[in-house]
Amino acid sequence: MRSHYCGLVDEALIDCDVTLCGWADTRRDHGGVIFIDLRDHEGIVQVVIEPDNAAAFATAEQVRYEYCLRIAGKVRNRPASQINERLGTGKVEVLAATVAVLNAAAPLPFMLDDAVGEDARLRYRYLDIRRPDMQRKLRMRTKLVSALRHHLDARGFQDIETPILTKATPEGARDYLVPSRVHPGEFFALPQSPQLFKQLLMMAGMDRYYQIARCFRDEDLRADRQPEFTQLDMEFAFVEERDVQDAVESMIREVFKEVVDADLADPFPRITYAEAMRRYGSDKPDLRIPFELVDIAEQVKHVEFKVFSGPANDPGGRVAALRLPNGAAQPRKYLDDLGLHVAKYGAKGLAWIRIDDIAKGREGMTSPIIKFLDEQALQGILDAVGAQSGDVIFFGAGPYKTVSDFMGALRIKIARDNGLVETAWKPLWVTDFPMFEYDHDAKRYVALHHPFTAPNTDDVADLRATAATAVSRGYDMVLNGNEIGGGSIRIHRPEMQSAVFDLLGIGADEAQAKFGFLLEALKYGAPPHGGIAFGIDRIAALMAGTESIRDVIAFPKTASAQDLMTAAPSTVPEAQLQELHVRVVKPVKGA
Ligand code: AMO
Ligand code: AMP
Repeated sequence: MRSHYCGLVDEALIDCDVTLCGWADTRRDHGGVIFIDLRDHEGIVQVVIEPDNAAAFATAEQVRYEYCLRIAGKVRNRPASQINERLGTGKVEVLAATVAVLNAAAPLPFMLDDAVGEDARLRYRYLDIRRPDMQRKLRMRTKLVSALRHHLDARGFQDIETPILTKATPEGARDYLVPSRVHPGEFFALPQSPQLFKQLLMMAGMDRYYQIARCFRDEDLRADRQPEFTQLDMEFAFVEERDVQDAVESMIREVFKEVVDADLADPFPRITYAEAMRRYGSDKPDLRIPFELVDIAEQVKHVEFKVFSGPANDPGGRVAALRLPNGAAQPRKYLDDLGLHVAKYGAKGLAWIRIDDIAKGREGMTSPIIKFLDEQALQGILDAVGAQSGDVIFFGAGPYKTVSDFMGALRIKIARDNGLVETAWKPLWVTDFPMFEYDHDAKRYVALHHPFTAPNTDDVADLRATAATAVSRGYDMVLNGNEIGGGSIRIHRPEMQSAVFDLLGIGADEAQAKFGFLLEALKYGAPPHGGIAFGIDRIAALMAGTESIRDVIAFPKTASAQDLMTAAPSTVPEAQLQELHVRVVKPVKGA
């Protein structure tokens, strides 16, 4: 239907006949001459329709916004006064010979270049994706996936599909279930990840596996979480941590160079989970922010102020300070609002000291808590954080995890608000995660990664004795404050796997019912193995420079797990439910 793409018509085509297809981005009538900006995925070109071409002119007069058109004509230079240096096609235009309307367009619900709300964008996603910015983002994602495949195909990785209708794979979320028609009362679960299948492929001798795999998790959604999302899932046989990490680190470096021409550090920095929590209050630290938490428990152990001295003297407590350079320029209200922000992360309060003039000592400082600090404590704090005039120092006190969480969140918030996030790519590895977390409500351990992650000991008795402090062989790759990948060396001996199930409160019968196939497979010479999975949506979002992974997913769900375009989920006819042996107890929305 066409000879060229609109966005690629340039001076090399002067005097050539071209046939173009696309959408009417604008139509302007200029003293008897009609201009149509014709747009396709490559860009826009200006088309001129002159009145002496009566047929074309008559059609062009009917053209409205987003009409789908086919236009043939000759490329010519624009008059000097009309040259648009910002457009690739800005020096040329097409003098139309024929204009055909392939399809009219009803008035659109929004103009494509309007700033419209996300609900409207998702409801009319096919219009939203016509926008050049969405075209760019989705095309960048294609390039990412293609670069990853290219890299892995060249290195002997086997691309193997695993089932979507399967059994529960625990990754910490709820399962999406599919009722079986043939087996009344029985359900498939959609995979939260291909975790067990990829391990079984290693036991099956496939050696190196990857898959661009869809995963399904029914969990609370955020900007970086979708109920269905895509992983680059990988597994390797006969490996230790560094074998996996080094291989995927160079893959990520190569792909970032190829897709966005970014140079990532070589090698990536590495820190332990404990150090990440201590310095950044997060297990996915953003290293673009040039300040860190400083522990000041030593400096405030002796003070009267119980809010500080309590946690400072408690082994499970923490007192941390964070210095915001030039924070004194912010109004008082800003400091109060930060208190509200950290409350969302469990903070009971947010103490601060504003230093207007450090030379004047206390007189040069404003603070709701300075009156509780003696000279020794105050000076100790100022020295520990390296305070200067113009700074605001924030304080968090309480249980170690809570303080780390809210001070970590504060670090990100104040850096963003004050333009202190460096423009850079800052990847790192986080290692040495705790094996278990104690769930105080359920009174049992839960796996920090997943229950197939190997502990840092081969000895079952040793693991049982040290469960509370045991470290796992898991690792995360973090980029600019986002967890882009997570993996581990796996348990490959059945007795260790059974022991870990046991420690997680999964009894022998339950383990058999849920994971009997795995325990059995581990008995037949399972090789040591390990792997990782990357969040493709998150990597694509970072590359495209957007905060929300919804921007790099063609048809995403809303934060309440709905598809606004198709209106899924929706009710189904009673007959269909009966066939599936399902009865709906609570009336669902719209029923
Ligand atoms: P994990 O649960 O850490 O590991 O997931 C791997 C990566 O997937 C991305 N991710 C998500 N992206 C979008 N929406 C979500 N809801 C979502 N959940 C996770 C993250 C994360 O780092 N089977 C293990 C991997 C392994 O051990 O090899 C797993 O799934 O970027
Ligand atoms: P209060 O004793 O609750 O009036 O608090 C006195 C000051 O300490 C206020 O500025 C509070 O914001 C602050 N504060 C209270 N609890 C904490 C906490 N857990 N961590 C940091 N600051 C706190």
